[in-house]
Amino acid sequence: MNKRKDSRHRVTLIPGDGIGPEVVGAAVEVLRAAEVPIEWERREAGAKVFRSGDASGVPADTVASLRRTRIALKGPLETPVGFGEKSANVTLRKYFETYGNIRPVKELPGIRTPYSGRGIDFVVVRENVEDLYAGIEHLQTPSVAQALKIVSRQGSERVIRLAFEIARAEGRKSVHCATKANILKMTEGLFKRTFEEVAKDYPDLRADHLIVDNCAHQLVMRPEQFDVIVMTNMNGDILSDLASALIGGLGFAPSANLGDQAAIFEAVHGSAPQIAGKDVANPTALIHTGALLLRHLGEMKAADAVENALLATLEDGKALTPDVAGPAGVGTKAFTKEVIRNLGRAPKSYPRRAFKRLKMPRPTPAPSGLSLDVRRTVGVDVFVESRLPPADLARAAEAALAGLPLKLAQISNRGAKVYPNDLGLEPEPSDCLRLRLKAAGASLEDGAILEALSRLSAVAPWAHVERLTEFDGVLGYTKDQGEE
Ligand code: NAI
Repeated sequence: MNKRKDSRHRVTLIPGDGIGPEVVGAAVEVLRAAEVPIEWERREAGAKVFRSGDASGVPADTVASLRRTRIALKGPLETPVGFGEKSANVTLRKYFETYGNIRPVKELPGIRTPYSGRGIDFVVVRENVEDLYAGIEHLQTPSVAQALKIVSRQGSERVIRLAFEIARAEGRKSVHCATKANILKMTEGLFKRTFEEVAKDYPDLRADHLIVDNCAHQLVMRPEQFDVIVMTNMNGDILSDLASALIGGLGFAPSANLGDQAAIFEAVHGSAPQIAGKDVANPTALIHTGALLLRHLGEMKAADAVENALLATLEDGKALTPDVAGPAGVGTKAFTKEVIRNLGRAPKSYPRRAFKRLKMPRPTPAPSGLSLDVRRTVGVDVFVESRLPPADLARAAEAALAGLPLKLAQISNRGAKVYPNDLGLEPEPSDCLRLRLKAAGASLEDGAILEALSRLSAVAPWAHVERLTEFDGVLGYTKDQGEE
């Protein structure tokens, strides 16, 4: 008896909001019918929790369960308007640093799309916790907003290694990295450079970089060329939704959020409140997500059995939900029953993959890249609120800075140099201008920067300050449009 209990997997179960309980319930039924020994710890998160006054949407009890089990099957969560600032999904991802969002995109038998027959079969790996989704935003002035795009070497490395490990576990041949490194040289550029370094540790796999806008184009033109695509958070968010449309839409797209502390499995779709409680939601994505969860638990045979039964049901086409079958469709419950009836069957036409258990990557002890010991402060960027014409602002700033070991090098408006205005630019007006102050000597002490800020406050209130550093002789900041 005890032995049986010990061999059970404990998994946190979060039914979620809207159609969540229906589709999560369907997945649990199918996994139970496949006789996988799972003990579910049912926990709350989402709308009800927000409404009860918990501003995180994720109660401590849910967090504690996930800390124990380290794995969850979860339905979609809503953040009701007026309750809580942050999404409960993002909170869960951040609590548990589930840094890799994995979305398999594979043509499904019986689901007709304009791409049917092309053999689409790839995986999108999206960085899940950094980038603009760190959610660090400021109003610099009442009319100018800013979001910080944060990309770290370590954060990039772990998700890029994860992408290569997935390629190996699934017997794939190539990994693509899609970035906007041509424009965002520091952030997206760091991701690209890290990809190029990490790729050297995986000589058995082809590694290619492409610009993310071209990736969007390629995904629509020739999606069958991809095996694994790794991206930063926002690019991955957008393109993975595009990718799920290629195989039939949101009702069919499973996903996993993987990290070292926990793995959270969920469908890509949301809570679809319009159809909640009507027994019409398509549980395919959640049942497929259940198969991914089984692979993560090492239950490879059961995962194949669940996936095969699901695919056979879709291929038969006799019992499909109304999102694909229209009014002739069957309900969530009837579809689920059909999948369970089909356990033991496999689709007739479906190219199978031999999955190995995924090896979570070990982070390297120290980032390679630049030597961080040799650094020099060469100036400071000060963003100020001012409606003065740039030349007038420059005169006032120069007068305020007189006698300090730094001088005004230029003023820019949203990244374009407007003073000195040697390009003759006439940018749209903005009340947020950036003063780039450069050290007069070899380096700059903090005291001089603080004194400069204090004096500039009398000219125009400053909103945001950035140190300009040279790391090991390499500029740690970008130049403006028009800057020498
Ligand atoms: P949604 O995915 O809920 O719905 C978009 C459209 O797809 C709707 O027409 C819906 O009826 C349909 N749909 C979605 N899943 C379906 C399924 N399984 N079967 C049949 N039709 C399905 O996206 P929406 O409307 O933008 O979001 C609704 C709520 O869900 C919001 O509160 C949002 O914040 C939340 N959400 C939560 C997510 C999560 O927990 N991971 C992800 C996306 C949204």
